[in-house]
This record gives sequence, structure tokens and C-alpha cells, in this order.
Amino acid sequence: MKLAVFSAKSYDRTYLEEVRAQRFQGYDIEYHAFALSEETVPLAQGSDAVCVFVNDTLDGRVLRALHAGGVRAILLRCAGFNHVDLNTAEELGLFVANVPAYSPEAVAEFAVALVQTLNRKTHRAYNRVREGNFNIEGLLGTTLHGQTVGIVGVGRIGMATARIFHGFGCRLLAYDPYAGDEFRQYGTIVDLDTLLQESHIISLHCPLTDGTRHIINEATLQRMRPGAMLVNTSRGGPVTWGGIALDVYEAEGELFYNDHSGEIIDDDVLMRLMTFPNVLICGHQGFFTREALTEIAGVTLSNLSAYVDGVSCPNSLVTEGHILVRRDTAPVRL
Ligand code: NAI
Repeated sequence: MKLAVFSAKSYDRTYLEEVRAQRFQGYDIEYHAFALSEETVPLAQGSDAVCVFVNDTLDGRVLRALHAGGVRAILLRCAGFNHVDLNTAEELGLFVANVPAYSPEAVAEFAVALVQTLNRKTHRAYNRVREGNFNIEGLLGTTLHGQTVGIVGVGRIGMATARIFHGFGCRLLAYDPYAGDEFRQYGTIVDLDTLLQESHIISLHCPLTDGTRHIINEATLQRMRPGAMLVNTSRGGPVTWGGIALDVYEAEGELFYNDHSGEIIDDDVLMRLMTFPNVLICGHQGFFTREALTEIAGVTLSNLSAYVDGVSCPNSLVTEGHILVRRDTAPVRL
């Protein structure tokens, strides 16, 4: 079994090699630092499976090229699969599996860290103090206890976020057309308008689908309360502008996960956003904890092993020529 891993960073190699040494010694893994794309797809030739991350290209052309080169399994070492053309994968009979939950708490804790950084301005305090400036003017924040937090999407990460804000003593609202009952022990399910109008903090935890793309836009931002804070750790597509904390960005594919510090960044929107003192941008690192990386590596290779052994894989999105519809995939256009 030959597996080609794309967009491989040192940490991907470390954690995948750890799991391979423990449980999957027979797998031959080749690591490529660059992303999978139409240009790089020939490097997968001769591999049985490819392993990719959030910003690799898996459109119809790339999937067809992979298939022509002998690849039969696509392993996503991430939860989101908005970048995969599932219809073409189904047509080609490819096996596609993701890692649906790799420490939802990691992302939730990061979302809360972003809220508290923006709120209490610790990033600015850090810079000031390093320069011997101990003035606290301009660093005024809000006590979170008693504030209303609106969570868009109360799946695994949204629920983990709800539990943390509940611990802070916040009032919780959620908007999720497919919400189960679990959230009701912490707060109230409302429509999007109510959530926008009443929340001091809005945290997005919905997947990127046709229904959520640009869910926060100029019109919806107008309906938010003045001074409200928006945090997006889900996917870049839902947000078009704002005074916000972003861990994800719609056009992140060209930039994130690579060092561009020695180059001119040719993205006017991002560069403009970075000039605002109340905008905090991180490079899609919500998931980035030791626990999550261990889980990602373990589940990714277990998914491959299920495919190799021909046994049912709980994380398959497409298998034996069928797109599998699960609760969390329901909003995706099939
Ligand atoms: P999940 O599938 O458990 O939950 C997603 C929730 O969104 C579900 O409850 C679903 O019903 C809801 N939803 C679907 N359509 C909606 C709509 N139109 N409006 C409101 N809610 C809607 O997924 P999970 O594990 O909680 O992950 C959420 C998202 O977080 C992922 O899709 C992924 O894009 C992102 N993510 C970001 C990471 C990061 O490092 N920043 C890491 C992992 C995931």
C-alpha cells in the first residue's frame, strides 16, 4: 500500500510516522511538502492512496488525474470536505474518508482564546510592554460573565464552545437548522436574525456549504449589535468583511500554512484587514494541538486500513461508488 501525503509539514510527518511505527508498518508513505494540484498530481502516479489537507485541490480534474494514475483512496486529514468534488469521486468509484472529529475542544478553546485576545487586547499589551510602555489606555475590555454569545452551528465544535462560554457565565443563543437537543441545556435555539441582534459575541462553527457561504455578509453584519465581536474558526467562505477575529479566510489557499514573510502579499483585502487594530487574523491553527494531531494521524491511517481490508469505515464520505449522507453532510449539495 503506497500512500502519497501532500501539503506535508514536519508535524504531519512526525505524527503519521508515530502511528505507522505502532500499527501500520507495512504502509509505504511518501511525503510531499507542496499541495496537491493539477500541476503536482503526476507525483501521485503509482500511489494507491493520497492524503491531503484543507487547502489541497480536489476538483474534478485532479480527481480524474489521480484515478488515471492508479489512486483509489482519498484520505482527508481534516474534518471539512468542501474542497472535494464528491460527485466526481462517486462517479470514479473512489473511496473518500475524513477525520470528522479530532479534538473539537482544540478549536473551541482557540475560538475562545481569540475572543479573549480581542476583548482584553493582550496582543497589544504584549507589544506595548516589550517596548517599556505600561500604559493601559485603549486596552479596556468587557467582562464576559453575563454577555450573550451566539453560536452558529452547534455540532461538535459549536457544542464544545457552548460548554466553555457556559462556564464563563454567558447567556447562550444558537442558530442551527439541524440542531439536536443537546444545546438546550446551555441556552436557546433561535433564528439567525435574533442571534445577530442579541449577541455580544458571535462564533461561527458551521461547515462551508451552499447554505452557509457568506452567511455573514454586509446585510447580516448591519443587523449585529454595535460593538459586537465576530469570530470565525469554521471556513473562510461565510464572512465577507468585518471587525473580527479570523482563523480562516476565504482566499487562504494561496497563503496559509506557508511562510510569505519575505514576499509582497498580493491580497489587498487581507492586507487592509490587517491594518485594523480590532481585527485579529491567525493562519488556520484552531486545530493545532498535540492531541488533535495524534487523533488526525491515527484516524487517517485507520481509515486507510479499513479501505485496504475492505471493511466498513465509519468516516467514509464516498465508498464503492456511493456518496454517504450523514447528519453533518446533509446540507451539502449532493
Ligand atoms: P459538525 O458537523 O459536528 O457541526 C456542524 C454544525 O453546523 C452541525 O450541527 C450542522 O447542523 C450545522 N449547520 C449546518 N448548516 C448550517 C447552517 N446553514 N447554519 C447553521 N448551522 C449549520 O462539525 P464540527 O466538527 O463542529 O466542525 C465545524 C466546522 O469547523 C467544520 O466544518 C470545519 O469547517 C471547521 N473546522 C475548523 C478547524 C480549524 O482549525 N479552524 C478545525 C476543524 C474544523
